[in-house]
Amino acid sequence: MRLQGKVIIVTGSTTGIGKAIAIRCVDEGASVVLHGLEQPLGEQVLAEIGKDKASLIIEDITADGAPQRLVDRALQAFGKLDAVVNNAGMVVSSNIHTTDLAFFRKVIEVNTIAPFALIKAALPFLRKTHGCVLNIGSVNAYSGEPNLLPYSVSKGALMTMTRNLGDTLHREEGVRVNQINPGWVLTETEVVRKHEQGLPKDWYKDLPAMYAPSGRILAPAEIAAAAIYWLADESGPVSGQVVDVEQHPFIGRNPPKD
Ligand SMILES: NC(=O)c1ccc[n+]([C@@H]2O[C@H](COP(=O)([O-])OP(=O)(O)OC[C@H]3O[C@@H](n4cnc5c(N)ncnc54)[C@H](O)[C@@H]3O)[C@@H](O)[C@H]2O)c1
Repeated sequence: MRLQGKVIIVTGSTTGIGKAIAIRCVDEGASVVLHGLEQPLGEQVLAEIGKDKASLIIEDITADGAPQRLVDRALQAFGKLDAVVNNAGMVVSSNIHTTDLAFFRKVIEVNTIAPFALIKAALPFLRKTHGCVLNIGSVNAYSGEPNLLPYSVSKGALMTMTRNLGDTLHREEGVRVNQINPGWVLTETEVVRKHEQGLPKDWYKDLPAMYAPSGRILAPAEIAAAAIYWLADESGPVSGQVVDVEQHPFIGRNPPKD
C-alpha cells in the first residue's frame, strides 16, 4: 500500500502502459481518474477497478479545457489531487518524407503540449498536497528510430520539460516532476502496430537478442512497477530525473558490428 489514500490522474489509461499504471496505483491504495479515447475499453478498466476507486473521462487530451476537466473530476470524485501521470501519447511512425507540418504539430500537441497543459491545470492542487508529476517518455527521446521522427522529437522535448519543471516546480512549489522512458513494451496496440508495419503476426515471440536480451520485450506491468516508486513518498525529494526502463543501456551503447 505504497500509495495509500492518494488521488492520481493517469492519462491514456484505457489501454497499454497507462492501464497497467492505473491498476497498479489502485492495488497500492490510490484512487484514479482514468482517461483515454476508447470508451468501451475505458469502461472495462473502470469495471475491473470499481467505481469507488476510479472515475472515467473519455476525451481527446487536446480538446479545449480537457486538462482542466481531468483536474476537476479528480477533485469532484475524490476531493484532492496528489499526482498526475502524463502517459497518453500518439505512437506514430513517419520520417521526413512522410511527415507534413500539420502532422508534426499534432504529435507535438498530444505528446508534449498536452502534458504541459495538464501540469499547469493541476499545479494549484498539487501544490496543496506536495504532489508530483510522472511523465511517460520513450527511449526514442535521445535520437529515435529513423521512422519515428516527430514522435522522437516530441519525447525529447518532454524530457527537457521534465528536467526544467523538475527543477523549477520543486523549488518554487514543492511539486516533484520525474520521467520514465520505457523501452520496447508489449502492449495490445504494439502487437497490432508492428504487424501492420509488416512483421509477422506473432513477431514478439522471436526477437533478436540485440533488442530483447531476455528473449522477450517488457510487459506493461513492469513499467507500472517502476512508476510506483516515483509516485510514492518513498522517492522523497528526488525531482527532475529521467530513468530509462529497458533491458540494455541506451546512452553509450555500441553494438557489435559483426
Ligand atoms: N509500447 C511501447 O513500446 C512504448 C515504448 C516507449 C514509450 N511508450 C509510451 O508509453 C505511453 C503509452 O503507450 P502505449 O504503448 O501503452 O500506447 P497505447 O496506444 O496502448 O495507449 C495510448 C493511450 O493514450 C491515449 N491517447 C492517445 N492519443 C490521445 C489523445 N489525443 N487524447 C487522449 N488520449 C489519447 C489512448 O486512448 C490510450 O489510452 C505513450 O506515451 C508512449 O509514447 C510506449
